[in-house]
Amino acid sequence: MNMSKAYLGMPLNEFIIRCQADFDYATGELSRLLSHIGIAAKIVNREVNKAGLVDILGDIGIINTQGEHQQKLDVFADSQFIQALRACGEVCGIASEENNEIISFDNDLSRDGKYIVCIDPLDGSSNIDVNVSIGTIFSVYKRISTRGQKPNIDDFLQPGTAQVAAGYIIYGSSTMMVYTTGSGVHGFTLDPSIGEFCLSHSKIKIPADGSIYSVNDGNYHSFAKGVQHFIDYCRFPDPVSKINLTARYTGSLVADFHRNMLRGGIFLYPATDKNINGKLRLMYECNPLAWIVEEAGGLANNGNIRIMEIKPTSIHQRTPLFIGSQSLVEKAIYFLHNKQS
Ligand code: AHG
Ligand code: MN
Ligand code: MN
Repeated sequence: MNMSKAYLGMPLNEFIIRCQADFDYATGELSRLLSHIGIAAKIVNREVNKAGLVDILGDIGIINTQGEHQQKLDVFADSQFIQALRACGEVCGIASEENNEIISFDNDLSRDGKYIVCIDPLDGSSNIDVNVSIGTIFSVYKRISTRGQKPNIDDFLQPGTAQVAAGYIIYGSSTMMVYTTGSGVHGFTLDPSIGEFCLSHSKIKIPADGSIYSVNDGNYHSFAKGVQHFIDYCRFPDPVSKINLTARYTGSLVADFHRNMLRGGIFLYPATDKNINGKLRLMYECNPLAWIVEEAGGLANNGNIRIMEIKPTSIHQRTPLFIGSQSLVEKAIYFLHNKQS
């Protein structure tokens, strides 16, 4: 099916159903799953928008599995997505940033579910209380274990190349859901007047080159020499080509990634002295965005291999990340390997 500009304005659910014929394995289950993620996103969006009015801002005093303070909205978003995915019946289990262990849905309908989901329910938590864009990132895999049983850890520890759907929601100046099932990247903007996500960005392509670099500059001195040299290259105009990059970093991966996707750029979170594997999580931050960026014509790498080819060993593992426009990611990898002193 030609998902052209003719579909602009189409509501998410209708678009998903029309595109179902794109996958040979489609039976409607994945479509229903994506629709349920859209519903949960609308509920989270509603709470994000009124966060200052009700008692939902702030820290709940619990440190999550990543050693980070859980915010009330983190916990709220986590429970909304769990509830929606349990109710849809297509999902047998979830791995979430907010939960140490995998969650198996123990009811007849869900045990029969064909899919598992890895999710960062609220990305950019440190920005919640200060009104900067935050997001949700998710990844969907077909289970390996037999349907009808509880899922096990092997259903989750699949490489990113096995994803069947991946996406993110950005709660920003407008709220958007962006996803791929392997035939392009589709972006939907929430129209608050009708409460629907409508197709606004058809077949998103990331510019092959870009002028934005996004990195936590405060970590500069604890990066490897090659990374420092790449940042130096970004900071200072090249005397020959006069390339002049600009720095943009919000501290919300989704927001930084989304901007770079539309404008062209690179986001990097390399290893630091403190976080020797970087900070970002492979299963529910890096893999979904890696598939999206590759579908859009960009690259995602950990400095050595494609993010999606990493064989996971635990659901919360971290990885260094270099993601964005092809030429900038290639340039970063070149500096990493050739400018070590
Ligand atoms: P989360 O809120 O899900 O824990 O993720 C925060 C992540 C990511 O969104 C962001 O890019 C990164 O942390 C920022 O880290 P620094 O504050 O170390 O730059
Ligand atoms: Mn996150
Ligand atoms: Mn999070």
